[in-house]
Amino acid sequence: MKKILFIGLVSILFLSCTSSTEVASPDGSLVVRLGQTEDGGIGYSVSRDNHEMIAFSPLGFLAEEQPLGNGFSIKGTKKNKHNSVWETIWGEERFIEDRHNALVVELENENGFRMDIEFRVFDDGFAFRYLVKGQRDQVPSTKLTILDELTSYNFTQGAEAWSIPWRTEYYEGLWEKRGLSAQGPSTKDTLCSPITIEFADGTYGFVHEAALTDYPAQNLYVREGALRTYLTPWLGEPNKNEVKAYVEMPFESPWRFVVLTKTLPELVASRIMLNLNEPCKIEDTSWIRPTKFMGIWWGMHIKTMTWEQGPNHGATTANMERYMRFAKEHGIGAVLAEGWNLGWEDWKHFDFTTPYDDWDMDYLSRLADSLGVQIVGHNETGGNAADYEKELDTIYRYHAQHGIHVIKTGYVAPIIRTVDGLQWNKGQSGVRHYRKVIETAAKYHIAIDNHEPVMPTGLQRTYPNLMSQEGVRGQEWNAWSTDGGNPCEHVTVLPYTRILAGPVDYTPGVFRFENPIIPTTRVHSTLMNQLGLFVCFYSPLQMACDLPEHYMEHPDAFRFIEHVPCDWERSLLIDGKIGDFCVFARQERGTDNWYIGGITDEEAREVSVPLGFLNNPSPYTVTLYRDAEDADWESRPYAYNIEERDVTASDTLRVRMAPGGGFAMELKVNQ
Ligand code: NOJ
Repeated sequence: MKKILFIGLVSILFLSCTSSTEVASPDGSLVVRLGQTEDGGIGYSVSRDNHEMIAFSPLGFLAEEQPLGNGFSIKGTKKNKHNSVWETIWGEERFIEDRHNALVVELENENGFRMDIEFRVFDDGFAFRYLVKGQRDQVPSTKLTILDELTSYNFTQGAEAWSIPWRTEYYEGLWEKRGLSAQGPSTKDTLCSPITIEFADGTYGFVHEAALTDYPAQNLYVREGALRTYLTPWLGEPNKNEVKAYVEMPFESPWRFVVLTKTLPELVASRIMLNLNEPCKIEDTSWIRPTKFMGIWWGMHIKTMTWEQGPNHGATTANMERYMRFAKEHGIGAVLAEGWNLGWEDWKHFDFTTPYDDWDMDYLSRLADSLGVQIVGHNETGGNAADYEKELDTIYRYHAQHGIHVIKTGYVAPIIRTVDGLQWNKGQSGVRHYRKVIETAAKYHIAIDNHEPVMPTGLQRTYPNLMSQEGVRGQEWNAWSTDGGNPCEHVTVLPYTRILAGPVDYTPGVFRFENPIIPTTRVHSTLMNQLGLFVCFYSPLQMACDLPEHYMEHPDAFRFIEHVPCDWERSLLIDGKIGDFCVFARQERGTDNWYIGGITDEEAREVSVPLGFLNNPSPYTVTLYRDAEDADWESRPYAYNIEERDVTASDTLRVRMAPGGGFAMELKVNQ
């Protein structure tokens, strides 16, 4: 009773000490204010601990029908407090707290056009979205043609941003840090969303969007010192005005959000993006299960196997059976096969329901059943989303009938063909296609691992069958990239950038680094770094990507991959620095066991891991997989030691990571 009274009091206090157009975070530290210019332009500013973090920053749209950036007056405001905890179907965290204060400002312009802006302010950041209602009284047209979104972020202090250029194909680029003010105004300097910011005062920011379901993905650029929005345009039709989106009113835009934290662990722990997405829309989720998987895949990338039929065809019945039996023996739940279906010779028309004649689908699906090892299907569309969309029901029915409940989709083509013609995959039409895929797949109890996606925005809360996505320069670049492979630093940037946008199918776990067929490339890491990735890179569908025979060259190290889960109760960044290193600790969902992973860039470093987070008072047995003293990604990548000892929560472990190295630990409660 006392608690309820207390919450009530706080709420009254909150309402009486803020003006009607400002809203503070639950702990009061962050305040967002709506402001107006003389000509009725609208914008907002943000302060933390009474210091301005974001100066007045315009909001609104430019639409073909009318400008929606000025001439507005405030018709009313509404405030609201929210405090709840929700349970994830799978994730880095089992329970997520959603605690925020909200402000809705109701606006109307001289022409009687109405639009609300809804702000949500959390202790670790803020968000807003537009609720475009349209013309008061009458509806001459319920449609709006968006030419531009005026949303901007006028940060008050020096900021360096980790980013990739907006036209990076499939988001498969190396993230770079550059001063935000050094970015020029031309579109070539426009950046993909998200960006991760290191502010001059040593604090952090993350700018992205949430709940992108029927709108173009945002990109960001700097002009006159402020970060602005560039929506991915429509293509494929005379588009003089550069239309960005066609929307029907009433229309809710995706959320725009900024995480603002004093430390990196807080930035990584922010769950604002998931909180902004709608709760789960799938009623029965019992079939959605996180799993590790292997695959007939790496062989094609290192060129010892082929997708198409021929002497080295990878996806044959015999090879798949070999992989599945290996997976069974080593406790890996599923096996992917690429190149099982017609179409790989010329990529002109893929057939998703007809296997090559050396692939016996009925036999393999019976084998999958009897072994309890799932088949992960593969649908590479070559970017022909339109044809794929037409056949979705038939394709998913076929897979479900063969017991396949996870499909890796692919859209290899920088510009895809959607029902609206050639389009950016991250334009509005592409975004609609991906959503249709997820919704249709759910009907057939199929989970999706989407390659060449639009950047994730937290939709997995609403559709937990959207389990993993690429949108990253992944491990495959180490097999064939003309620049020799991913530099060591790359993997130490991703946990703070791409992976903050959602689970990543990076495909960790290479155990043989040299590639005799393409000798100019190699994996830039030690074996222990590959193990560390299983903890540092989150994905509920986690691929152990190498060949069975390579794993059997180091069966003792492979044991970590056998044991490590991919669904967590809690996750913590213990220590890290963007572009240098990270150490993550994660508690296995439903147990008291913990897994810790660390990875470093080309520099060796020693890290301390205080075990204070261990939640069980009994001692734990830790199995530590670490780089040997003389390990080095270039000269001795396979040098490692495995040690075992007992520890408790009062211990601190010190671990040295070699250049390009890392470590992994399994901590099991001694019962
Ligand atoms: C690119 C994907 O990233 C990769 O995983 C896949 O093997 C190929 N496309 C073929 O679909």
